[in-house]
Amino acid sequence: MNVVQYAKTDTPVNRLGFGAWQLGNTEFWGHMSVDEGVALVKTAIQRGINFFDTAPGYANGLSETILGMAIKDQREKVVINTKFGHKADGSSDFHPASIRESVLDSLSRLQTDYVDSVVMHNPGFDVLSGQTTHFQMFEQLKDEGLIRAYGVSIDSAEEMDMVLTHLQVDVIEVLFNLFFQAPAKHFKAAASQHISLVVKVPLDSGWLTGKYDEDTIFQGIRSRWDDQTLQRRGKLVRQLKHITGHDNLTPYAMAFILSHPEITAVIPGIKSVKQLDEHIRAAGTPLPDDLKQAFITLYEQELKHDPLPW
Ligand SMILES: NC(=O)c1ccc[n+]([C@@H]2O[C@H](COP(=O)([O-])OP(=O)(O)OC[C@H]3O[C@@H](n4cnc5c(N)ncnc54)[C@H](OP(=O)(O)O)[C@@H]3O)[C@@H](O)[C@H]2O)c1
Repeated sequence: MNVVQYAKTDTPVNRLGFGAWQLGNTEFWGHMSVDEGVALVKTAIQRGINFFDTAPGYANGLSETILGMAIKDQREKVVINTKFGHKADGSSDFHPASIRESVLDSLSRLQTDYVDSVVMHNPGFDVLSGQTTHFQMFEQLKDEGLIRAYGVSIDSAEEMDMVLTHLQVDVIEVLFNLFFQAPAKHFKAAASQHISLVVKVPLDSGWLTGKYDEDTIFQGIRSRWDDQTLQRRGKLVRQLKHITGHDNLTPYAMAFILSHPEITAVIPGIKSVKQLDEHIRAAGTPLPDDLKQAFITLYEQELKHDPLPW
């Protein structure tokens, strides 16, 4: 697998990472037991994946707990990014004075004495415009060795522009995929600041696999789309199938992201060994230039001026 350096450290990460929101997250993503989650993470590590993205709020702490159980005897093999702001009890607390306790709680669930990075979990504009003291606290935790890097998780090009203008971070986790291409215009600037870019939601929550259409009935976190949004997504998926000539869009969606050299890692949410293996099989397959251009053109014609909701 393709390996790069992570977050201004010497730590190598495979560009194909693992989104751990789904681990043990029966409420939002469908049933997954603790044992299944632990086995899935262990298999991913055996197959060469070493970058995991989690958060205290994922499955009320269970995502971190499952990761901790799986990495217990092999901590040195993995790189972990967790978050600050949304707590395991379901509440939110973005106060700078709460960072230390949040990190210590994450370390306890992860059964480790350091995390490779902590990112603020969708902070407000006051943080993104550098008006708060959060990053002084993160620096302190870095000096103490509890964390090795820090940054923000954000959703839009506007937020990315603010971060690059006002903050000095090691990591930006950003929503970017075939349907949400706006942040790409800031990738070069991020690379010039040696920031690691981690791409979340690479499959548009599953739509960019090609297996869903407007008639699909979604449960959990994906019951958020109204009829009009389902219709638009269904039409766009058909257009992508026409462009690629394939019903399975997953390899194209992933290859599009990895075709951007400024991106450090992509973290699809993975629910089974079957899904894991599909990503591993496809990783490293280059995207032909004409297809990449067709994906950009589709975005510019259909989405740039009328973005989909997340
Ligand atoms: N605010 C934040 O910081 C934030 C927000 C969102 C996500 N994230 C992070 O980003 C990660 C990825 O985002 P996401 O999970 O929301 O969306 P995603 O990666 O775009 O989609 C994940 C879903 O796609 C389906 N899938 C994945 N691989 C597949 C494969 N090979 N074949 C078929 N289906 C496949 C699975 O659902 P089904 O099988 O049920 O269809 C999976 O739950 C999360 O796990 C989390 O770590 C962070």
